[in-house]
Amino acid sequence: MVGYGHNIIKRRIFSGFPMKLTILFLNGPNLNLLGTREPEIYGPETLQEIQSRVESRAKELGIKTDFRQSNSEAQLVEWIQESPGDFSGIILNAAALTHSSVAIADAIEAVGLPMIEVHLSNVFRREEFRHHSHLSRVAYGVITGFGGDSYILALNAINSILSKKESKIDRV
Ligand code: DQA
Repeated sequence: MVGYGHNIIKRRIFSGFPMKLTILFLNGPNLNLLGTREPEIYGPETLQEIQSRVESRAKELGIKTDFRQSNSEAQLVEWIQESPGDFSGIILNAAALTHSSVAIADAIEAVGLPMIEVHLSNVFRREEFRHHSHLSRVAYGVITGFGGDSYILALNAINSILSKKESKIDRV
């Protein structure tokens, strides 16, 4: 989180007025199959439908979003590495990589942006191997088990976290 305040100050100096928060949504392997993939676990919504809901809530909050999905761990790591400067925070559903990827956790730690980990299903009601996340250690918080609403809850949460931080910096 060290780099975060610095980014805000930089934005203010160069723009002269507060810019919109921009949040990066990252989705991992197999989430492109939502809608048809085990709907009894992940719900009936497609990823595109979740994205539309996220975008309309973001519009209400005055936030910009960038919503991406990849089946590749390397691509997710690259997007995270590129995120500082362009984004104020990350909402991440790394899917199965949650339970295996030290590389994604290291990338999040390296960039220092606040990250909220989300899951559609309640991973703690499922198989034992889903109970451990490599990402929770580097997450601001975790939202699990609310279907597509997990993304909306995470957006509300990151908005509230970042707005508080921004107003603290305003007072300095
Ligand atoms: C998931 C939970 C993971 O355990 C699983 O591998 C996924 C999706 C979820 O959103 O519920 O692919 O992240």
